[in-house]
Amino acid sequence: MKNFKGKVAVITGAASGFGKEFAIAGAALGMKLVLADVQQLPLDATVAELAATGADVVGLRCDVSKGEEVEALAQLALSAFGGINLLFNNAGVGSGGLIWENTVKDWEWVLGVNVWGVIHGVRIFTPLMLEQAEREPDYEGYIVNTASMAGLLSPQLMGAYNLSKHAVVSLSETLFHDLHSVTSQIGCSVLCPAFVPTGISNSHRSRPAELQNETSPTESMVVAQKMTHKAVSSGKMTASDVAQITFEAIRENRFYIVTHPKIMATVKMRLEDIEHLQNPRDPFALKQENRPQLDLTVQKASA
Ligand SMILES: NC(=O)c1ccc[n+]([C@@H]2O[C@H](COP(=O)([O-])OP(=O)(O)OC[C@H]3O[C@@H](n4cnc5c(N)ncnc54)[C@H](O)[C@@H]3O)[C@@H](O)[C@H]2O)c1
Repeated sequence: MKNFKGKVAVITGAASGFGKEFAIAGAALGMKLVLADVQQLPLDATVAELAATGADVVGLRCDVSKGEEVEALAQLALSAFGGINLLFNNAGVGSGGLIWENTVKDWEWVLGVNVWGVIHGVRIFTPLMLEQAEREPDYEGYIVNTASMAGLLSPQLMGAYNLSKHAVVSLSETLFHDLHSVTSQIGCSVLCPAFVPTGISNSHRSRPAELQNETSPTESMVVAQKMTHKAVSSGKMTASDVAQITFEAIRENRFYIVTHPKIMATVKMRLEDIEHLQNPRDPFALKQENRPQLDLTVQKASA
């Protein structure tokens, strides 16, 4: 996608972190914005902030895990601006702990937002974009799905999140091939950042009441939360840097968007393990400082 001015961008998870920075970057390029988030007040504040800079922007409270709410978002984009060019399926949440300790509600929440949110975005918006492409010979469309490095690796204590992000990578790779088989007017990318300071380690703020756990977090969940918080808050790259890198990739039609290229050495390690059919090496082998400190033998002994 080369031209952004006057084009319509729809962004989920737009009230914080990457989503908010995509909106700011899009506005700076003269895009019209449709912003969605499950958190009404921060969303309203973001819409007001951008409108005050002169941006053409509308917002809708939308839970991306619910198909009918994503439908309403698409309808808003059509009624407000008459079309859709750039879609960011970005809303996401994190939760951690030993994989067998995650509750059904943990799985439902994380997969609902991170996987179903992207499924709904793709299944609802892509046909609308294809229709627009058919009507307008010079139409340019693009979809960016936010995955994570956790979609290319499987670090310990991040099971539900890893699974959700691997699903987003696979969905996006398939979307790439499927789009290529029917159109040259719509491109797509998968965004795979490592740890960046945003609200992600405070995801529980948007967890719905019906998906709250009735039991207290286990030791491994507490350790995972501390590890994520430390890794996220010590990230050197900003969410604004990630937005700039993402827009550059959209402009160049680059599918894999990797914001922290040094981590590719660990991805390579994983791919070599698969290639040589050897057991998976430690995903933190090259980044010891982010390794979660969970010693269950010590825990057991002291119990
Ligand atoms: N920050 C990182 O280190 C990092 C790294 C890799 C990938 N990611 C991914 O980036 C994306 C954006 O996260 P972020 O880091 O900006 O975090 P963030 O918490 O700052 O922003 C996420 C936004 O999504 C919203 N949201 C949560 N559930 C939602 C739902 N059901 N429907 C609609 N909106 C919902 C939240 O209210 C929040 O405004 C996520 O998919 C996340 O998994 C983040």
